[in-house]
Amino acid sequence: MCGIIGIASNKSVVSNIIQSLKKLEYRGYDSAGIATIVDGNIDEKKCTGRVDNLEKILFKSPSKGSLGIGHVRWATHGAPSKENAHPHSSEDVSVVHNGIIENSNELKKILEEKGYKFKSQTDTEVITFLLTDFLKEFDLVDTINKTLKTLNGSFALGILFKKYNNIVVGARRGSPLAVGYGPEENYLGSDSYALKSMTNKITYLDDGDVCILTNDKVDFYNSENKKINKKTLTLSDDKHTVEKGDYKDFMTKEICEQNLTVKTCIKEYVDQLRKDINLYNFPIKPKDINKIILIGCGTAYHSCAMAKYWFEELTDIPIEIDIASEFRYRRIKLNKKNLYVFVSQSGETADTFAALDLCKKNKVKTCSIVNVVESSIARSSDFVLPIHAGPEIGVASTKAFTGQMLVLYILAIKISEVRKEISILDYEKKINDLKNLPDLIKKTLNYCQNNTPLIAKDFMKAKGAMFLGRGLSFPIALEGALKLKELSYLHAEGYPAGEMKHGPLALIEEGLPVVILAPKDRYFEKTISNMQEVIARGGKVILITNEVNKIVSENVRFTLEIPKTNEHLTPFLMTIPLQLLAYHVASLKNCDIDKPRNLAKSVTVE
Ligand code: AGP
Repeated sequence: MCGIIGIASNKSVVSNIIQSLKKLEYRGYDSAGIATIVDGNIDEKKCTGRVDNLEKILFKSPSKGSLGIGHVRWATHGAPSKENAHPHSSEDVSVVHNGIIENSNELKKILEEKGYKFKSQTDTEVITFLLTDFLKEFDLVDTINKTLKTLNGSFALGILFKKYNNIVVGARRGSPLAVGYGPEENYLGSDSYALKSMTNKITYLDDGDVCILTNDKVDFYNSENKKINKKTLTLSDDKHTVEKGDYKDFMTKEICEQNLTVKTCIKEYVDQLRKDINLYNFPIKPKDINKIILIGCGTAYHSCAMAKYWFEELTDIPIEIDIASEFRYRRIKLNKKNLYVFVSQSGETADTFAALDLCKKNKVKTCSIVNVVESSIARSSDFVLPIHAGPEIGVASTKAFTGQMLVLYILAIKISEVRKEISILDYEKKINDLKNLPDLIKKTLNYCQNNTPLIAKDFMKAKGAMFLGRGLSFPIALEGALKLKELSYLHAEGYPAGEMKHGPLALIEEGLPVVILAPKDRYFEKTISNMQEVIARGGKVILITNEVNKIVSENVRFTLEIPKTNEHLTPFLMTIPLQLLAYHVASLKNCDIDKPRNLAKSVTVE
């Protein structure tokens, strides 16, 4: 989704802005732009498509300036076009914006009546003209303040003023924004990742905060316009994890390193010597938990769907799962005895954050399971369980899904043990089994890397695909279908195999690829009969199982054999062939693996 960068320096900022915009490319975008102050005037350059195009424009017609803002835009209001790309500038002001201004139509009318001529279809341009208008009467701080008060909706802003030609201004409501401190220059960024190549000293803005950056200081104001001091954090050095290395793309790297991220995560939570799980300062006594509600979007929601099975098998606690965009608007009775768990890789997903915010306002207990520990969701929840997966750059979530599942599983085992709902023997056995998970994942990776490319060919002519599973394999089927959709743009459905007869069986026709997830568990025989029903109707079955024998494999087009392990850990292994399958189908179709069309890594607007 959109990304912001701003730099106040005493040397040229153009190349650093371009490099930082490149770092933000992973978020998904369709146009880019930059504005600097050159000889006292605003100089704006924009383009559709990649930052490379912007670089080409700058090569032909270089920009200068020691003060600048840059943006990558993911279209919400108005098509992806040069006119709609940010910055949006008037003679006096230039603005880059992440988020959505909900009252932009009303404001546009008022501003048009005042004579302002809009060049774009965006909601952002109203901010430019509001600032321009207030500036005629008020000083800098009042201009910003009055503008922000007029806006409804969510935003992170980067602003340049012609009149105040030594400052970059930032403001936040709803959408994340960070300030970074460098040698004789200061930075503004929509996430710390964009700033990391320049600094590891960061301050996160809270909702309502405004910051004014010069090259040698940063002033912060809160929503009441009071000057405030804010904490500076030092970011951890994870340079090695944000480079592609020898991998073709980030997604391959992220799939292939899952054995290592799982190992790290297990080390963080599991004490193999004492055979125990460390969960210090958990915000609610497990014994007092009435109900657990697991909330997330997309892949994160699928990890919640997975965890429901584990929690229900391991504990007596009622579990609900919810999609954040639904949860936030339903008339839900929030209960102080419940635990609300928010799952998010980025920790910045607008809907998940809004759902958490609703819980915070109702003073119920919250816990977040995130990858980015400095994120808004992590900072706002009562308790944070990091997944320790390291930066995930590919838009399609892979290692973060595995990490989210792992932390949820570890949480389920621990809660079950504290509530004495599993025996000590069983608890210790589960901890012991976890020790083997990284190696099992590695083994599965090696095997599937060799076998999935051939299977992917079968999807080339298909007009869709289905993913079927029962029990613990059903959420994995959902995730497999999502991966195929987002990477290869093929229509895919994830379904509980037992539901097929209630409608979806009508979709099965000669040659339709159907991925059947059938590990040897208590659903095995039933899943296999569902598979036969698919075969009987001409479906081209790809069977993923840990119980290969001739009878079940008859008439199956491909069988992938994953290693045997305890039933609760099998979903981790089932996930891998699905990730690789989606990857290889997308590769054969020449899709942009790390940046699928229309998608963004962190969905910061609703
Ligand atoms: C997954 O591959 C997706 N691109 C998407 O569904 C993602 O999981 C979702 O947007 C939630 O993101 P989050 O984990 O950062 O909150």
